[in-house]
Amino acid sequence: KRVVAFVSGGGSNMLALARACEAADYPAEIVAVFSDKPEAGGLAKAQALRIPTRVFERKAFGSKAEHEAAILAALAEIGPDLICLAGYMRLLSGDFIRAYEGKILNIHPSLLPLFPGLHTHQRAIDAGMKVAGCTVHFVTEGMDEGPVIAQAVVPVLIDDTAEALAARVLTVEHQTYAAALKLVASGGVTMRADGSVERLASE
Ligand code: GRF
Repeated sequence: KRVVAFVSGGGSNMLALARACEAADYPAEIVAVFSDKPEAGGLAKAQALRIPTRVFERKAFGSKAEHEAAILAALAEIGPDLICLAGYMRLLSGDFIRAYEGKILNIHPSLLPLFPGLHTHQRAIDAGMKVAGCTVHFVTEGMDEGPVIAQAVVPVLIDDTAEALAARVLTVEHQTYAAALKLVASGGVTMRADGSVERLASE
């Protein structure tokens, strides 16, 4: 399966996916990396792996619709099977999501449905959680609420800072996203029209 990854920052999740794709039996390849930030570290990581990159800065376009239209046109040239949002910090419109229904994955640094949105680690600590983690889900119109594909749990330690917890979660993000993409790219998991997740018996 041909995957386009979207990054806005360091791109460590994209890098984890690209590394997983290098395995001969892995059913996906990252064919391009898109970013909305020209300075995103993920672009340099992709270029180091000879993965084509494209930048679509929001301020270069008159509206969100024009910004998305440019991205969709570039995607149409590539014809990806899947899109993996990997630290991409923009919300996609319903029209964009519908154009790739059931084919957009995202990784979120919390155990959804707990702590959607930002500052997830500090919120987990403040809430007195003893576990935290990450979620890979299909992207639907609402933010961070699509059907869950995979999750991983880490302990929250006494006196954990948000930074320490974030680093612990990021490590399992990389493993979880690679496992989730393998499940979806192999057809083991699909999103039904009603938004539920269908798993093949063999998975
Ligand atoms: C990760 O914590 C991811 O869960 C969140 O943003 C961070 C980006 O990490 N969406 P990276 O850009 O993949 O290194």
